[in-house]
Amino acid sequence: MKMAARTTKQLILANKPAGMPVLSGPDATFKLQTVTLPELKEGEIVNNPDSYLEHNTYLEFYSCARCMPSQTMQANADLSRAQFPMSGSMSHLFTSARREFTFPGLRHSNILNSRAVLTRRSMRSGVIAEVLESKSPKIKAGDMVMDYHRGIWSELLILSDQECQLLAPLPNGLPLTHYLGTFGGSGLTSYTGLLYAGGAKRDSDQTVVVSAAGGATGSMVVQIAAKILKVKRVIGIAGSDEKCEWVKKIGAHECLNYKSPTFLEDLKAATPDEVDIYYDNVGGAILDAMLPRMKRLGKGTIAVCGAIAQYNADGKPMELHNWCEVFSARINIKGFIMFDFMEHVPAALQELIAAAADGRLDLSDAETVVQGTLEQQPEIWTRLYTGDNKGKLVTKLVA
Ligand SMILES: NC(=O)c1ccc[n+]([C@@H]2O[C@H](COP(=O)([O-])OP(=O)(O)OC[C@H]3O[C@@H](n4cnc5c(N)ncnc54)[C@H](OP(=O)(O)O)[C@@H]3O)[C@@H](O)[C@H]2O)c1
Repeated sequence: MKMAARTTKQLILANKPAGMPVLSGPDATFKLQTVTLPELKEGEIVNNPDSYLEHNTYLEFYSCARCMPSQTMQANADLSRAQFPMSGSMSHLFTSARREFTFPGLRHSNILNSRAVLTRRSMRSGVIAEVLESKSPKIKAGDMVMDYHRGIWSELLILSDQECQLLAPLPNGLPLTHYLGTFGGSGLTSYTGLLYAGGAKRDSDQTVVVSAAGGATGSMVVQIAAKILKVKRVIGIAGSDEKCEWVKKIGAHECLNYKSPTFLEDLKAATPDEVDIYYDNVGGAILDAMLPRMKRLGKGTIAVCGAIAQYNADGKPMELHNWCEVFSARINIKGFIMFDFMEHVPAALQELIAAAADGRLDLSDAETVVQGTLEQQPEIWTRLYTGDNKGKLVTKLVA
């Protein structure tokens, strides 16, 4: 029987923002549209609209014309074989061959296409959803799936069983949304960036400093450094005293509020032995403040994960007054994208899940899940820029 045509609301990028995204008015960054979905083909499913959408700094990230091509070039060709087999037992998950077990179903072609979010296209987003209807022999209505390929800001999505993954339960009854954060891009970026870009060592006397320490990536860096690697000292940097308290609760030995007028003195006082690894999520003034705090003679490494302070800077250059420290102290600077370390992802995920299972990772507050309509999605997303999130920011879509 032929199905009646289905329509759905979607948000598309209407105007690239110069500076912070605009939420309303004629220059609004996003515009709502209603589209008619095609009929399901063999191997396709459609989701229940009350799905979970993850939030990334994507728009600016993918708009960064200078950074994205190099990211794509470094993408691991093995991604064409990538799978993230979340169904079945967890032990099967850990013993899969390297090539069959990487980041959530990401394909090389997908990464090649993942440059700027184009005008009149929808914002991309990892999605977890219940299946409403299926034309797939592998996935049935009622299953929970995750998709990083076709996930966009849309109430209904047609997904392919080649690309989305069935989700298995997580240890200790943890919500499946952690697949978008701790056990997804954020946690894996933290783990691989800390070890393989930063050079963090287990049980070492290293001092690790991380910015945006109360966010998805930074909070996992704190927990991995303090509780999995057990380095000597972990110092977070975050935007409020309340967030700093939480960062200390999840394992940091110290956390500094970068908005405090005494931040520079506090940073100096907190790093008397200088810093082995600075995990940089923000760039800008905090990076500038960190340069003189790094260990000398090539013993300090800055792992550059992101530069959120720069994404909405409207083309203004980043001011680094302390840049000369790079050569005088011989600082190692290593930029990375998580895809650079795909071969380490299976072991990383295994260790993260084991640490969650035995209670080393405190995930009680590791995500901020906000209920909202699709129309509210842009405002929820901008909370990444105003710091109104703790851990991973996720929208639970409601009608
Ligand atoms: N290299 C990779 O493969 C990769 C992968 C994922 C993410 N990233 C990058 O990692 C960084 C964190 O991303 P995320 O998704 O985990 O987001 P997030 O940390 O959960 O959220 C962003 C946080 O950044 C802080 N922030 C916002 N504007 C700031 C500013 N001007 N100065 C200082 N801090 C600011 C806010 O916290 P406060 O309250 O502390 O201000 C906010 O909570 C981003 O730069 C992102 O692009 C990189």
